[in-house]
Amino acid sequence: MSRSTVSDSIAFLRERIDETPRVLLVLGSGLGALAEEIEDPTQIPYGEIPGFPRSTVEGHAGALVLGRLEGVPVAVMAGRFHLYEGWAVEDVVHPVRTLLGLGAETLLVTNAAGGIRRAFAPGTLMLISDHVNFTGRNPLTGPVLEGETRFPDMTEAYDGTLRETVREVARERGIPLAEGVYAALHGPSYETPAEVRILERLGADAVGMSTVPEVIIARARGARVVGISCITNAAAGLTPEPLSHDEVVEAGAEASRDFSTLVRGVLARM
Ligand code: HPA
Repeated sequence: MSRSTVSDSIAFLRERIDETPRVLLVLGSGLGALAEEIEDPTQIPYGEIPGFPRSTVEGHAGALVLGRLEGVPVAVMAGRFHLYEGWAVEDVVHPVRTLLGLGAETLLVTNAAGGIRRAFAPGTLMLISDHVNFTGRNPLTGPVLEGETRFPDMTEAYDGTLRETVREVARERGIPLAEGVYAALHGPSYETPAEVRILERLGADAVGMSTVPEVIIARARGARVVGISCITNAAAGLTPEPLSHDEVVEAGAEASRDFSTLVRGVLARM
């Protein structure tokens, strides 16, 4: 995605909003309910935003919802672009580049993930402490875009202060919260049990097919990042059950009340 299309998207959104979002919230599978809680929402289908990736397969990629949550101006991505859908990594990160370029300072990113750590039951919320990029892609490949650094430091990709805030909110509201390392794979096939055993030995606690490209862009632009995974299933081979996408979406929806409470609590302290 070229520099010019990012600025086209920014220019379009600037015309349509009265307030610059401070936080970009990316909602993962099954966690979309939060988009309906936005106050004074302006909803813009991705298909209407110039420069946004255009789906040639199906026209229903999702929508951007702008408004306030807990008094904080937010932009919510209800639906994201995945590598496994065939999008180039530049397309996957285009909305993040746009919203951070527009002025958002914090990326709050969420996803559904398979639990690798044995203690993770479906419905567990896991604060992401760090990630492993096994997608085989990096969105910073190629020319350096304006506002981004060539070699971003990833030592504390997930902001320590914001992580402490998430832990505090969870403690206060009685929400069980785990913490661990998220490994991103390209997908769309789920992992084999052998792959899950390898990931476990390499230090991953959860596995999914998103998030990492978006986080890399946020770090290259100097934005703060906080990430939360909803563990929707035990990763392949850890139980005799086969994996199903329906089960992933259902478990996400079941955890969505705790998830909303957690996210709202964090925003209220920003
Ligand atoms: N693997 C990869 N991605 C996922 C999984 C999984 O088990 N569950 C939800 N997203």
